[in-house]
Amino acid sequence: MRKPVIAGNWKMYKTIAEGVDFIQKIAPMAASASHCDVVVAPPFTALAAVSQAAKGSKVGISAQDMHWDKEGAHTGDVSSTMIVDAGCTYVIIGHSERRHDHGETDEQVNRKLKAALAEGLTPIMCVGETLAQRESGGTGQVLKTQFEGGLAGLTPYDFSRIIIAYEPVWAIGTGRTATPEMAAESHHILRDLARQRFGEAEARSVRILYGGSVKPDNVGGLMGQPEIDGALVGGASLKVDSFAALINYPRT
Ligand code: 13P
Repeated sequence: MRKPVIAGNWKMYKTIAEGVDFIQKIAPMAASASHCDVVVAPPFTALAAVSQAAKGSKVGISAQDMHWDKEGAHTGDVSSTMIVDAGCTYVIIGHSERRHDHGETDEQVNRKLKAALAEGLTPIMCVGETLAQRESGGTGQVLKTQFEGGLAGLTPYDFSRIIIAYEPVWAIGTGRTATPEMAAESHHILRDLARQRFGEAEARSVRILYGGSVKPDNVGGLMGQPEIDGALVGGASLKVDSFAALINYPRT
């Protein structure tokens, strides 16, 4: 059985005070949610304070990115050692906004993943196609390239410590969600890639989250798909009430 993950990616939202206030409200609501793992990814500036506020609660803390070097002359970057120091146990790697805003490549994603694993972090590796790629029938190839490039050189054991997030770029922040069937089809492609590359046991156990305009009113349909093991949520993770509703998604 794969334990679902509901993760909120706050992106470039929330001050320290706003983040701490959010945690103080969500932690008691999440306390009884034994059916899923709960994660939030605050901006770097709020990581330490939010981790402190989340101590002893069910809420795990993720960074939104990291550099592959432990330290060095990299102005504006933050390392794996630093995010662990700030209380993170997860890190999002290869989000499409980093790929597009910062030109991040699969090779860089791969270096970051290896560094995150070496630091004992659980990486959440994002993959997903653009609208043009989907419309030209390229989704399968894009997922294959990102999967193989991002995970190059990893062992099955390394892979067993990773979470994958399928985030179709055209569904992020657009209000346009992939239907549960569309999402499940891509998850199926990713699980097949995992099977070919890492073996049956790893393919069965890897958790694949869906991200892209997940909201309280569509989370039930998405989570109803056996291939979908959770959600990586942007906009709807910013309000306590909607994130609480996502954590308590309808279950049968
Ligand atoms: P939205 O939920 O705002 O579409 O963002 C999804 C996302 O990018 C999560 O990482």
